[in-house]
Amino acid sequence: MTTETPPPAYGGGPVPAAGRKTVTLHRLRAMREAGEKVAMLTAYDAASARLLDDCGVDCLLVGDSLGMVMQGHPSTLPVTLEQMAYHTGCVARGNRGAWLIADLPFGSYQGGVEQAVASSVALMQAGAQMVKLEGGGWTAPIVAALVERGIPVCAHLGLTPQSVHALGGYRIQGRDAAAAQNLRAHARELGRAGAAMLVLELVPSDLAADISAGYPGITIGIGAGQRTHGQVLVLHDMLDITAGTKPRFVRNFMQGAASIGDAVRSYVRDVKSGAFPDEALHGYSA
Ligand code: KIV
Repeated sequence: MTTETPPPAYGGGPVPAAGRKTVTLHRLRAMREAGEKVAMLTAYDAASARLLDDCGVDCLLVGDSLGMVMQGHPSTLPVTLEQMAYHTGCVARGNRGAWLIADLPFGSYQGGVEQAVASSVALMQAGAQMVKLEGGGWTAPIVAALVERGIPVCAHLGLTPQSVHALGGYRIQGRDAAAAQNLRAHARELGRAGAAMLVLELVPSDLAADISAGYPGITIGIGAGQRTHGQVLVLHDMLDITAGTKPRFVRNFMQGAASIGDAVRSYVRDVKSGAFPDEALHGYSA
């Protein structure tokens, strides 16, 4: 008898839930080729990791948004590498089949290649399968160095929350022609450097679509319209747990849902079908 997913080469490793295939980078690339949208959500703990994985979420992001969501800070800047490694370990222990990405926090890679490699090793040893870093231009050599060393990288352009003070707040990026050109150039460099995934946050839908069409990897949008290869939201935002006003690109998936599992399954279904995001409700123009 043949099985579609070969057993792990060295034995052991978590067994995914029944009917669920382990999500690998190879599988994510195949999804892009097949036009299947990638559904990603943030996770910071073992219980939600298990629930999201069982509900069919393809990728779990241990985002440094945990600084705001879990710790109550006004920005992601105070989050430390030790805290990210701790939460990555928690999520890795709950997860069985989803692809696990962990954010390199502020101050853990800005020092250059050597620091970025050491920080990424810490997150990979805690259970991450890919690390995410913010920004373009200066990050390209860092991405290339990590990829060369066998560490898959997700880049992050547009609104990069670690630069909130330089950007003057949480605002839409790439609206004028020069800024859009800059984003395109950074995406090209990051693609060439080998970033297998690229998060595009809070950019006009047409620009995100244009970047996605030319990007050699998988683009994941958040407030970037419908024409990226996948979508991500902060779990607490889409479950309407986050206090205060939510950004326009968030949909409350608890509305009409009987349980958190129901809400997460709706998110996965709507991302895959293209029903979320709705360009008219959640997208931005230049
Ligand atoms: O930290 C985070 O959760 C993120 C996503 C919002 C993309 O970077």
